[in-house]
Amino acid sequence: MRPYLASLPFSVLPSALCACTRPQLESAVTDFFNSAVAQRNTLSTPLSSSAKITQNNQVVSLAQTSYANLTNFAVPWQISAVDVDACQIASMRVPTEAGRQRAILSIRMALDNATGAIDEIEIVNALPGSHMLFAPERFPAEAPAVWSTPYPAPALTRVQLIAIANSYAEGIQSGDGSGVLAAAQCVRNENGVTMTQHCEQGLSLFRYPIPTRRWVVDRDLGVVLGMFAFDKSRRAGRSEWLYLHEYFKAESGRAAWIEAAMHTLYGPYTDAWAG
Ligand SMILES: *[C@@H]1O[C@H](CO)[C@@H](O)[C@H](O)[C@H]1NC(C)=O
Ligand SMILES: *[C@@H]1O[C@H](CO)[C@@H](O)[C@H](O)[C@H]1NC(C)=O
Repeated sequence: MRPYLASLPFSVLPSALCACTRPQLESAVTDFFNSAVAQRNTLSTPLSSSAKITQNNQVVSLAQTSYANLTNFAVPWQISAVDVDACQIASMRVPTEAGRQRAILSIRMALDNATGAIDEIEIVNALPGSHMLFAPERFPAEAPAVWSTPYPAPALTRVQLIAIANSYAEGIQSGDGSGVLAAAQCVRNENGVTMTQHCEQGLSLFRYPIPTRRWVVDRDLGVVLGMFAFDKSRRAGRSEWLYLHEYFKAESGRAAWIEAAMHTLYGPYTDAWAG
């Protein structure tokens, strides 16, 4: 048998049958944004028949998300987290919607490893009114290079990366930043507004219970996305929650940058992705 005939199926099979590679996951997100901007109204990546889609914690169809009105990017700025272990990718962008309005958008997608079809899409779509802090015009053209710089060897484990992001969530919840694994300088940007250069400081202002904590972990970059809901009800005197996609970039085992996209939810809250 000629060798190329025998080897061909094996060189084709792995990429066709395993979607949980960096390039496959990245191409799903690229397709989402490119086809939205081109107003093609359909993704090239197959959407599984049971796909679940949420925007700002509401279960919707793709046509009911900002996919339908995303017209451009205000700036090419972007950060991402690729989680090959969980077959997920998350990406934060600064798009223009309906040809005029700058938004701050974070998307998480999960693929089926066997078919490559999209099983899950979770979007935070922040617009004016999402929060007091909302400044899409403050994003620079490009994200700081640290966000796309590989984490130097030895890589942090999944558990270590989650521990960094979770230490911050614990600090917010307890109002005590002493246990936060933050670097000496740790910039925190919220909906485009730089709040501090010291992520572990000033947390006594919060003291919000954070029952929702989900993760997308990029071991190559040392980036972890925490998907959180802060219960602000006790302070607000009514049911009020802050729904966030909060990206953490680790350097030397500690959080050195935090970028959050966030949107306020009023009324009773249940995490659409719980369970
Ligand atoms: C874009 O569409 C989404 C989903 O329908 C909507 O929530 C959002 O308000 C729209 N954006 C603008 C600027 O109209
Ligand atoms: C995807 O499938 C490949 C091949 O079967 C396997 O090695 C890999 O662990 C799977 N990844 C996930 C996240 O299930």
